[in-house]
Amino acid sequence: GLQIVRTVAELRAAVRGWRADGQTVGLVPTMGALHEGHLSLVQAAKGRCSRVVATLFVNPKQFNNPDDLNSYPRSEEDDAAKLTGAGADVLYAPSVNEMYPQGFATTVSVAGVSEGLCGAHRPGHFDGVATVVSKLFLQSGADMAFFGEKDFQQLAVIRRMVLDLDMPIEIVGMPTVRDADGLALSSRNQRLSEAGRAAAPALARVLASAARSIEAGGDIASTLQDASTSIKAGGFKSVEYIELRDAESLDPMVSLDRPARLLAAAWIDSVRLIDNVAVLPP
Ligand code: PAJ
Repeated sequence: GLQIVRTVAELRAAVRGWRADGQTVGLVPTMGALHEGHLSLVQAAKGRCSRVVATLFVNPKQFNNPDDLNSYPRSEEDDAAKLTGAGADVLYAPSVNEMYPQGFATTVSVAGVSEGLCGAHRPGHFDGVATVVSKLFLQSGADMAFFGEKDFQQLAVIRRMVLDLDMPIEIVGMPTVRDADGLALSSRNQRLSEAGRAAAPALARVLASAARSIEAGGDIASTLQDASTSIKAGGFKSVEYIELRDAESLDPMVSLDRPARLLAAAWIDSVRLIDNVAVLPP
C-alpha cells in the first residue's frame, strides 16, 4: 500500500529502512493534480528503482502570481489513489511550514539556463523550483529523480544544479505524454473551454512541423516567425516566445550545428500552455 508521510523525519525513517535492506530509491516530485504524464514518471521510477517516493507540494516560492497559487488545483485524495494504482511506495506531502519553517532564508539560483524563455516571463520561478527540488533531494536522499521533458527548461535547470553542487543523485528525463490529438498533458488543460481545447493541439502540431522544416535546412528565423503566425491562426491569442535553443545549455542557436530544442509558450483562453520538441542536426 501507499504510505503517506508529512514530515522530513518520517520520510527519512522510511528511506532508512529501505537502505538497510540495500534497496534503491526513486523520487518523483510533483505539485499534484496528477495525470498520465506524472504517472509515466512513477512507472519509469518503478522500472529503475526498488522503491518509489512521489512528492506532492504546491510550492509557493515558484509562483510569481498569488492568484495562480491560490487557484492551483488540489486533489490529494485522488492523487493518492492514482499513486496507489501506479505502485508508488510513499507519498510525501509536507505542509508549507514543514518545507519553509519560520526564518527560512536560503535560495538556490542557477544562472544562465534559468534566464530567458519561461524565466524571462516568470521572475523568480526557477529559483523557487531549484530551491524546493534541492530540499526534496536532501530530504529524501533518493538515488534517482524523474522529471518530464514537458518542462524542458526546468529539467535543464535541475541537471545544471546537480552538476554544479555535486548532488549525489541521477536525473532521468522522460518524454512528454500527450493526448491522442498531440496536446501535451497538463493540469492547466482543465481550464480550457471546449473551443480552446479543440484548438490547443495547434501548438504541438506547429512545433513539430517547424522542427521538420529546420531539420530540412529551412531558415531558422523565418521558420520561427511563420510558426508564430500559424499558432495564432490556429486559435491562440498570443505567443509569449518561440525559440530554438541548444538542447543542453539552452543557449540561443543561429544554425543547426548541434542537437537543439524548439520551445514555445502561448496563451489561449487566458491559459498559458508550453510545449517543446527536439530538433536534430543532419
Ligand atoms: P508538476 O507541474 O506537477 O510536474 C511534475 C513533473 O511531471 C515534472 O517533472 C513535469 O515535467 C512532469 N510532467 C508534467 N506534465 C507532463 C507530461 N505531459 N508528460 C511527461 N511529464 C510531465 O514541475 C513541477 O510540478 C514542479 O515545478 C516541481 C518539479 C514538482 C517542483 O515544485
